[in-house]
Amino acid sequence: MAEKFYLTTPIYYVNARPHIGHAYTTIVADVVARRHRLLGDDTFFLTGTDEHGQKIERAAAAAGVPPQQFADEVSASFAGLWKRMGITNDAYIRTTDPKHQQGVQKLFADLYERGFIELRTYTGQYCVSEEMFVEGPPGTIGPDGKPTETVSEENFFFKLSEFEGRLIALIESNELAIQPESRRNEVLSFVKGGLKELSISRSSFTWGIPVPEPAASQAKEKHVIYVWLDALANYMTAIGYGSEDPADIEKFAKYWPADLHLVGKEIIRFHCVYWPAFLMAAGLPVPKSIVAHGWLLFEESKMSKSRGNIVRTETILDGFGSLRPAPPSQPVGAVGVGGASGEADPSAALRDEKNKASGTKAQQDLFAADVLRYFLLREIPFGQDGSFSFDALITRYNADLANGYGNLVSRTLSMIERYFEGVVPKPSELDWERFESVVAGVLRHDNKPLNAYDFSGLIEAIWGMLASTDQYITKQAPWKLASDPTKRQELADVLYNAAEFIRFYTALCHPYLPYATASVWAQLGLGSIEEAAARGEFKNLQWGGLKPGTKLGPLAPIFPRADKGLAQIMNDMEAPAAAPTNEEAPSHHPAAPPRTSAIAEENPAAKVAGSHALSTERTGTPPHTEAAASGVFAAQPVTGESGTAAGAAQPTTISIDDFAKIDLRVAKIVVAEPIPKADKLLRLEVDLGYEKRQILSGIAEWYTPEELIGRRIAIIANLAPRKMRGLESHGMLLAASGEDHASKPILASFSDEIPLGSKIR
Ligand code: MSP
Repeated sequence: MAEKFYLTTPIYYVNARPHIGHAYTTIVADVVARRHRLLGDDTFFLTGTDEHGQKIERAAAAAGVPPQQFADEVSASFAGLWKRMGITNDAYIRTTDPKHQQGVQKLFADLYERGFIELRTYTGQYCVSEEMFVEGPPGTIGPDGKPTETVSEENFFFKLSEFEGRLIALIESNELAIQPESRRNEVLSFVKGGLKELSISRSSFTWGIPVPEPAASQAKEKHVIYVWLDALANYMTAIGYGSEDPADIEKFAKYWPADLHLVGKEIIRFHCVYWPAFLMAAGLPVPKSIVAHGWLLFEESKMSKSRGNIVRTETILDGFGSLRPAPPSQPVGAVGVGGASGEADPSAALRDEKNKASGTKAQQDLFAADVLRYFLLREIPFGQDGSFSFDALITRYNADLANGYGNLVSRTLSMIERYFEGVVPKPSELDWERFESVVAGVLRHDNKPLNAYDFSGLIEAIWGMLASTDQYITKQAPWKLASDPTKRQELADVLYNAAEFIRFYTALCHPYLPYATASVWAQLGLGSIEEAAARGEFKNLQWGGLKPGTKLGPLAPIFPRADKGLAQIMNDMEAPAAAPTNEEAPSHHPAAPPRTSAIAEENPAAKVAGSHALSTERTGTPPHTEAAASGVFAAQPVTGESGTAAGAAQPTTISIDDFAKIDLRVAKIVVAEPIPKADKLLRLEVDLGYEKRQILSGIAEWYTPEELIGRRIAIIANLAPRKMRGLESHGMLLAASGEDHASKPILASFSDEIPLGSKIR
């Protein structure tokens, strides 16, 4: 009977739309799921969204929509993206699903009944963006780099300290296997350092799952369940935990415990300490393994919404998708051997009726998703941090996919087409020796237990073989053999071996490049790769599996070369110079800001001095002023009767309605820091009371970060976000300065304790 394999990604917060950091985890999970499926395991792959908590509540409030509506929109953008990318998740959980909520309440009630939860009063420092209490005095800087908030609450506490010894035993015995080793050590030393009771409810906000009875009536206030307990439970509720339905009970019994929780390195404590402790307390089995990967960095910092340095996966799908070559005109694989069905469309997602309607775009998406999958898995040694850039993506694509695999396939198959009428020739003998020396090493590598996550190592090994196959062809020079009728058998041997190598590489790469390998499989005349994998053909690849006499499918290019200019196109998609045209998300959406002028520092147009900032911003025209470009809007004195050049250019009057369009607010600077390689700029984080955000400001010449932190200033809050130096700047400070731009701009400030976010009218 097939073994079961249950794997999960973290469920993603819905305060931000997906970026390629999220896609990275989902892609890794998809590769692992595909590998298990092709080994015949009964695989269940779960992903979804984490929708409760203060962070989401605040993001929805700032966007001016109810939290449920907000969560619905962002969750749909995650689900839609995974579909575009051909991700093969078997279920998609949302923590606002009623079944999930029921399961979480059951878990809480069980823990309470078993005596592991009690009510206490607690005052502590709370980090909202990480949704956790941290140690330290008021104003302590939280793990997100921002000051914490003092929260005093009567809370339900989970008796975490009772699990210290059992957690250590669990981890040391590898019953709960944590990878990589460095993370395992980190977790062990955290647990050995002593565990405190964990607050697992909140009464200061309402966007969460209510604490159930009988616990609820013990408390003075109404409590919602701590968002991490709520979120972690998704791994069980998605497969039926908490439901009375017999089908759900059976499903849960079959798949729990999870075989693999794949997570980013920043959330291992929640997964490796809290989660197994909750499960042990509830008398449930703990997951078998937790594997943490590193971060995707952009210009050396973690890609994240709060830093505003994200790259959207959609940009890569749209940018790279445009390169997808036209498919062959005839159905691919129609005359294949080995029971192939002749399915014209090789991708699983495209079998879906709905996708067929938009076939071309869907295929472009899958093609581009392959490119991103390959890049991320090849480029980043698993477990470590890695950088992303469009240039690196294009370089890697051209070197490995266009010139490497794609070229090997097209040169080999077109020679079979030309010299053997498109029929795989019969070799004189099966070249076992060659196979042993070249392929077996990689197969051994691949056959390591599947909990080895060395994706880049495996890909590197395959590409090493691919290069040697290329050299073999060059050395044998089949085009020369073809001109000599006495060398017909030698020609057949070379082309057979090359094609058989390609079949191997294609099978091995299928989990990484599902779309491209499906196309190559069909071009080899082997029909549907998915069906071949499902028949178990990839479990034990044997040399000689490509049968002589197989008629190749219609040939088509796989990976056309990408022009370097594509990087610029994708950069522009991230920060277009055009006015807002964001159709994908409603404009109230904070995570999907209306995309407007993105004047970067280096844009020469931005150096033109003038005083149109106010009026041009107002009308949505790009603000061509240095001040506007650098995140500070300075009022200038008018000198001379007829005014200065600046004065002369000023609009005469504006109406009160014009003024009302500008959202001026009081904000406090909570973080100020220099930006590497940008002498004039400071990166500020300002607190608007209802929201914290990042503004880049060109005031580094005049202000040190220390003198700025804590100041209450005036900002234009409804200025469209723009990117500078790869970082998002959302808003502008108000300051008065001399007309020459050379004197110090004096920031408009407030000394009174005016509430943050107050409107300036
Ligand atoms: N909602 C919690 C997880 C709850 S799981 C029970 C959460 N969500 S998150 O959206 O902030 O991040 C989830 C995951 O997204 C990270 O653990 C990581 O897997 C992935 N990534 C988000 N940003 C990333 C990078 N910049 N780089 C790589 N992965 C990143 O935490």
